[in-house]
Amino acid sequence: MLILDFIMTPIHGDTVVEEIRKFNKDLYILLLTGHKDLAPPLETIRRLDIQGYCEKSDKQDQLLLLIESGVKSISQMNMIKDINDELKDTYDQLEKAYMESIQTLRYTVEAKDAYTRGHSDRVSEYSVLIGKKLGLQDGDIKLLQIGGLFHDIGKIGVPDSILLKEAKLTDDEYSQIKNHPSIGAHILSNATIFADIIPIVKHHHEKYDGTGYPGRLKGEDIPYLARIAAIADTFDAMTSVRPYRKALPLDIVKEEFRKYSGTQFDPEIAKVFLEILETNYEQIKEIQEKYPS
Ligand SMILES: [Fe+2]
Repeated sequence: MLILDFIMTPIHGDTVVEEIRKFNKDLYILLLTGHKDLAPPLETIRRLDIQGYCEKSDKQDQLLLLIESGVKSISQMNMIKDINDELKDTYDQLEKAYMESIQTLRYTVEAKDAYTRGHSDRVSEYSVLIGKKLGLQDGDIKLLQIGGLFHDIGKIGVPDSILLKEAKLTDDEYSQIKNHPSIGAHILSNATIFADIIPIVKHHHEKYDGTGYPGRLKGEDIPYLARIAAIADTFDAMTSVRPYRKALPLDIVKEEFRKYSGTQFDPEIAKVFLEILETNYEQIKEIQEKYPS
């Protein structure tokens, strides 16, 4: 608690408080005035968050009461702050525990499907790269990062016999693979902290012309972040090494993105992604080296 006079030389109390408030917003401040006509305007008291002021007099009762109520306020504020800190710690621990359990689920999918290993990490990082190039806010970048990590989590619900089959899939098997976005969305729907990434998980296989799955959503009906993840996902499918084929050369990849811009891909995002491939390719390579396929 700080008690200071309003009229002082060489600088007045409000100027002192102004300086203090630049680095300490919490300090409890009481201002004393010699005479009520010399009191600072109410607007100044509010603006500087001064908790109280009183006129100096021979009797100290008023000042004493102000100090006593200030001391009570400070102790209550400290108590609230402690409770808030504790709540935040508990929330952080819960979030961490949930994140870890979903992470474990992700590793389970990746353990049974070698291709998915590293794929989610790369999709996550490519999505972030595109999001940053598009100038998205930090909150959306975070969603792209987490959404990328968990976009294929629903593969846990696809039988291994289908997921790992190397021969051509039957129509029925293919339709079971196509369930993975909805299964993933369902798994994550149990936790509110994942609510915002569900659109990415559920719609990363939609195509801009409405021929994708599961919703056959078209154009801007497809959630924006899912349109970004779809490009990152397809790029990784083209450029990662599979048992039956090598990675596609960069020229072909660019050609594909140009060719399917506006049909499979959002044309604006595809354009930005092509710019990344032209001018920031070293960042793509860094990601590929960090998580080799
Ligand atoms: Fe997928």
